[in-house]
Amino acid sequence: MRRVFVCKTGELAEGDARKVDCQPAALAVFNSGGVLYATLDMCSHGNASMSEGYLEDDGTVECPLHAARFCLKTGRALCLPATDPLRTFPVLEDGGAIYVEV
Ligand code: FES
Repeated sequence: MRRVFVCKTGELAEGDARKVDCQPAALAVFNSGGVLYATLDMCSHGNASMSEGYLEDDGTVECPLHAARFCLKTGRALCLPATDPLRTFPVLEDGGAIYVEV
């Protein structure tokens, strides 16, 4: 497992999301209601960037393309048209910075 730097602590405000370039696939990091989550940035249903989705403060995000909704904690698809989950990753804060463990 390796750490991918996201930003300094406090730079990702509540209600914000950001895309983080990472190999082999970009990540999306969210601050939903003050809780940090990370998923693959690509929607499980198609070619959409989840970091551009509609983030709610209840730990869910809606895909910007076809409006499937996902649980950020588990990655589970909560409604159609998506049926496959988003892959999720642990987020940690250390030394004043936010990282995703991949
Ligand atoms: Fe996300 Fe279709 S691309 S729901």
